[in-house]
Amino acid sequence: PAADRCCFVIFGASGDLTSRLLLPALYNLAATGLLPERFAIVGVARSVHTAEEFRQDLLDALQAHATREVDPQLAQRLVAHAAYVSGSIDDAETFSKLRTALEEIEATAGTQGNRLFYLAMPPDTFELIARQLARAGLSQEEPSGTPWRRVVVEKPFGTDLASARALNRALLEVLTEDQIYRIDHYLGKETVQNILLLRFANGLFEPIWNRNHIDHVQITVAETVNVERRGRFYDRTGALRDMVPNHLFQLLALIAMEPPARFEAERVRNAKAEALAAIRIPSEAEALANSVRGQYRAGRVHDEPVVAYREAEHVAPGSVTETYAALRLEVDNWRWAGVPFYLRTGKALSVRRTEVAIKFKQAPISMFEQTSVDRLGQNFLVLRIQPNEGITLRFNAKVPGPVLAAESVDMTFKYKDHFDVAPSTGYETLIYDCMTGDALHFQRADGVEAGWAVVQPFLDAWSKAGAKGLEFYPAGSSGPEEAGFLLARDSRRWRVIE
Ligand code: BG6
Repeated sequence: PAADRCCFVIFGASGDLTSRLLLPALYNLAATGLLPERFAIVGVARSVHTAEEFRQDLLDALQAHATREVDPQLAQRLVAHAAYVSGSIDDAETFSKLRTALEEIEATAGTQGNRLFYLAMPPDTFELIARQLARAGLSQEEPSGTPWRRVVVEKPFGTDLASARALNRALLEVLTEDQIYRIDHYLGKETVQNILLLRFANGLFEPIWNRNHIDHVQITVAETVNVERRGRFYDRTGALRDMVPNHLFQLLALIAMEPPARFEAERVRNAKAEALAAIRIPSEAEALANSVRGQYRAGRVHDEPVVAYREAEHVAPGSVTETYAALRLEVDNWRWAGVPFYLRTGKALSVRRTEVAIKFKQAPISMFEQTSVDRLGQNFLVLRIQPNEGITLRFNAKVPGPVLAAESVDMTFKYKDHFDVAPSTGYETLIYDCMTGDALHFQRADGVEAGWAVVQPFLDAWSKAGAKGLEFYPAGSSGPEEAGFLLARDSRRWRVIE
């Protein structure tokens, strides 16, 4: 069914996110009948534009970035009611202009007062925009919840525990938790949403999904991209902040959470928050002992030369910012006690691969003379999040022939063999969910803070250690060798991702 009729107000309407993701995603929703008939885009940005120019910009953005062929009539309908408000977010005047624009549109487009405010802006503006919206009376909701008013914020949500808490506190002064949709675009990925289905739509996995049968879990987000033009942002962020408290922890939470009683936003988010809160918070010394950070040197990725991180644009010459991070974490609850979760993520690596690998315990003894348990292949369930989306179960099988020998084989499910997935931006589901009021795939305040609480000692320990302990790896490799020690120490090893 189509989402609720509404005005889709974009702050930062002239930015990249709007043209590359939001517009193509809205178009895909329109093309699949999921966008309401009564719908209007309202852009807010500093640059001065007429509504007519704004509509043209939106159409141009679609031509440039749509993931499917653009039907001109449908595109025209999508932007038909689009309006534009130019002004600075510091200025109360901008928000009174916005009010006038909204009231006009609500009268003509029939959106019935439902408003989605999408903050496609740098995170240091979230608080101000939320306050200005409230001051101008634009975001208040009636207790009945109709019409609805929702605010969508992009990552990063805070840069450490204190700032994430402060941001939550500030937003919650002017909005209720139900009105806030914190995006983590990993939760928009089909393969990430599928973790819940894999676990809870099957009876097969849950009985063995625990410390009795699982040896450890590896979560890998390997990227081939380097810092490119994001030096200014990345140099004060680093791999840990950029990826771990959000994307990797969302994967961890989906793997580790208890089954919720129902598939409902609050219950699912309760279970996830509980799982994140169960991650042991290390001391700084423990954090150092259970982590490896690296930075890429010059090298080649896919045969293209990559300059060393320190030489990239807007990166400080002697920067000690990490472009690779590996952590060993423990989840202190009955299901997971004693099962380490190893996480790693990095840029300028040899391959792009996001996967969750669940390693099952070995057979207790070996009955096969030619093999020993140690030499048997390991049983892994691998969730391939991207690319080559799918799931693989790795187990041992007898090599045909009179000489007894075992070899690892794979049982593999590939999305592309079963489903006809239209190319998308990955934002369609999330945007649709905001418009229907389903917060299941969005982060809640407690989950965000639980994530930062775990990451904080690593941030503190690394910032105190400075250059000491920063390992280097050539661009195009699989990361610093030292990351292997984190597992070798436990007589384990990373899955090879080359
Ligand atoms: C973003 C990070 O949140 O996620 C980027 O800021 C990273 O640094 C990106 O490259 C990865 O997303 P995806 O969908 O390509 O895995």
